[in-house]
Order: sequence, then structure tokens, then C-alpha cells
Amino acid sequence: MSSPKAKEKKLWGGRFAAGTAASVEAFTASIEIDARLYRHDIMGSIAHAKMLAKQRIIPAREAQKIVRGLKIIQTEIERGIFPFSPTDEDIHMNIERRLTEKIGAAGGMLHTARSRNDQVALDMRLFLREEVRLIIEAVKSLQRELAGTAKRHIDVIMPGYTHLQRAQPVLLAHHLLAYFDMFDRDRQRLVDCLGRINVLPLGSGALAGTTFPIDRAHVAKLLGFPRVSKNSIDAVSDRDFLLEFVAASSILFVHLSRLAEEWVLWSSQEFSFIELPDGYCTGSSMMPQKKNPDVPELIRAKTGRVFGHLQALLTIMKGLPLAYNRDLQEDKTPLFDTVDTVKASLQMMREIVQGVKVKRERMLAAAQDGFMNATDLADYLVQRGVPFRSAHEIAGRVVQYCIGRGQRIAELALNELKRFSSKIEKDVYRYLSVEAVVGRRRALGGTARSNVLRRLKELRV
Ligand code: ARG
Repeated sequence: MSSPKAKEKKLWGGRFAAGTAASVEAFTASIEIDARLYRHDIMGSIAHAKMLAKQRIIPAREAQKIVRGLKIIQTEIERGIFPFSPTDEDIHMNIERRLTEKIGAAGGMLHTARSRNDQVALDMRLFLREEVRLIIEAVKSLQRELAGTAKRHIDVIMPGYTHLQRAQPVLLAHHLLAYFDMFDRDRQRLVDCLGRINVLPLGSGALAGTTFPIDRAHVAKLLGFPRVSKNSIDAVSDRDFLLEFVAASSILFVHLSRLAEEWVLWSSQEFSFIELPDGYCTGSSMMPQKKNPDVPELIRAKTGRVFGHLQALLTIMKGLPLAYNRDLQEDKTPLFDTVDTVKASLQMMREIVQGVKVKRERMLAAAQDGFMNATDLADYLVQRGVPFRSAHEIAGRVVQYCIGRGQRIAELALNELKRFSSKIEKDVYRYLSVEAVVGRRRALGGTARSNVLRRLKELRV
């Protein structure tokens, strides 16, 4: 057992005869992690102090001192000269102690009608609100890059896949815009989540509210919150907004990881569909010929990290009795790391999309192989009255015949084709080129160039 230190003056020390054990101090302190909330903590405290003065809960002169003191503290932190102390547990108490050191007794008035429980809930909301807005912008930038790349390569045809087997030719632009749509949903989820982050919890006190005649609407206005929480118990114990954000980030990472994985494959010699920019790849210490796609690989891997954070947060919250519990302090590491990982990965993905070199000849050659016009041969027969099931069977036999002879469907002579069905005429060849196969998928949402061009025009980011 680590022996209690001589009793130090804690901001909450009144009730205690002995000091905190050194081991406990180390175990419970969060200052290393939550120092990052300093700006939001100060912003919240300034609004709170102004409201307290307006309501005549504290004298205006002391409130002014508090505001001035807090601003000085902010510059101290930003200049790296703030004396952080682990004895003060977290950022909230570090700042409050420093405030009293600087402005004397007036500093002790700041915490009137407030608890660290509603304070930390506020700081987390202020922090996340700012970050989510930045992340929404980062998603938009990635979307713009995808749309730009799609536009520049509007005539590039590649194989579309199912089961990772060549299935039907598609426009590369159509494939890229699939990701555009995924990221669009991610953006909508984040915007939606922002609405629930943007609620003021301050004024809930420790859990039951406060006896002071505070004006919560005023604080909300000062801090730009469109809404104020309605239940003090919920307000101090709710972390749904973090869960939602990390869940939305996890889905975003599902998408990032799929794109990353495809580009790892596409940049391999087996596919050789793209070349990643040199500056975004690394070599091997042993094999001189290697050019490794480390950035998409790491984005793929960081997905696991973010999923892990979601699991951690869900588990922290599960079964927690109301209202505040110290468990909630453990929300910070997973949240902060999710924010950092999402921002860094979106940025890297955007840069890679920007720098990618498309090997259009390789894509086209791959699209011409693999009998991807077999569906179109079947559709052709259907147009001439053959039931689809029989048409499918006929086209299948044509493919089998071609495989045996090492030929493409379009390379067969008309009389050869006619042996499979008398309905086949000379015009069949017009249906078999990859360009025709792509261009005929004009139904809404299909890969036809006209569709993709229209979609590119209507995109708004
Ligand atoms: N460091 C704490 C946290 O991050 C602040 C709130 C502490 N409240 C308390 N009653 N101990 O959750």
C-alpha cells in the first residue's frame, strides 16, 4: 500500500483528514489526457462567470477579474509555461487553482452553481462540436477529390467485380462515385450527430440542478448552443453524443478501409490498375524492387483502432447507474484518439486520391477479358424473344466454347454464333464491345456515361 502523503490542499479537501495516496493520485489523474480541453474549459468558464454576474450571483468586479484571469491562463497554457500539477487531477481543477493563485479570492467564486460533472460534460460537447465541424469539412474535401478524379477519368472503363471476380464493365468514375455516396451518408450521420452534441448541459450542477437563480439560456447564447438540456440527471451522465460520433466514425472507417483495400490491390502487380504517388509509398530494407502501399495499409489498420474505441466506449457506458460516475473519465482516450485518427486518415486518403495515377490501358484490357459482355449477349437474345433463362443458358454455352478456343465472344464469326441460336444476327457485334456494354446501362443509377455525367453535374459538396 502506498502511504498517504501529508495532507495537501485539494480544492475538495475540506472533508478529508488525510491526503490522497500517491499511487491513487497517479491512478486517478487525467490531466495528461484532458489538458487538451483547456480552451473549451476556459470558454465555458468565461460564459459561466458572465452569467453569474448578470444574475448578480457574484459581483460584476469579481467576474471581470475571473474573465481576465482565465484569458491570461489561456496564454500561459499556449506558451507552454502553465504549471500543470497532477495533484490537481484534471484540467478543470488545474485551471481553477491557477485562477485563484492569480486573482485571489475572486477565483473561488467561479465554481458557484457549477459542478465538475456538468463542467466536463460541457467541455466534451464544446470540444467535439468543433472537431465534428472540421471532420465534416474533411469528408467534403475527400468527396471533392473523388468527384474531380472521376471527372478527369470519365472515359476510363474498368472491370466491375462481384466475389472479386470480373463481373461487368463499369466506368472508373462510376466506381469512384460509389465512394462519394458512401462518404455522403457519413457526412449526413455526422451532421445529424452534431445536432445532439449541440446541447448545453451546464447548469445541471452535480446531478440535481442548482439553488442559484442562474440563466441557462444566456449561457447557451454566449456559447452558441441552440438547445439546453432538460433533465439535470441525464445531462451529467449522458455520453450518447460520443457513442454516436464514434459509431459514425466507425462506419466512415468501414468505407475508408474498403477504398484503402481496393487501392492496395489495384496497385499490386497482379491488378496494376493504378500507381500510387512515390511520396506516399515506402521501399523495403531488403528487396530493392519494392514499392509498398503503406498509407492505404495503415488506413485499413487504423479501422481496427476506431472499432476498438467504439467497443471501449460502449462497454464503459453499459450498466452505469445514474448519474455521474468516475468511469466517465475514461471516455477521453477513445474519443480523442478517434478524432485524431479520423482526421489524419481522411487527410491522407484525400492526398492519395489527388496523387493517384490511373493506368487506363490496363483497366480497359482487363475489362475486355473475362467475357463480361455475356450478360449483354443474353439481354440481346431476350430482346429477340428468347426467355431470359434460355438466353442465359445459350450465352453460358458461348462462353464455354470461347474458353475452349481461347477467343473472345466478339471474335467469333456470325455463323459460329448462329450455331448457338438462330436469333443471333449481324447486329449482335454492336452489343458486345465494352463501350456498348457500359453505355447501355442507362437506367437510373447505372454506369452509362450519360448517367455518370449527369450525376457529376448534380453533386454538391
Ligand atoms: N476528471 C473528471 C472526468 O473527466 C471530471 C469530473 C469529476 N467529477 C467528480 N465528481 N469526480 O470525468
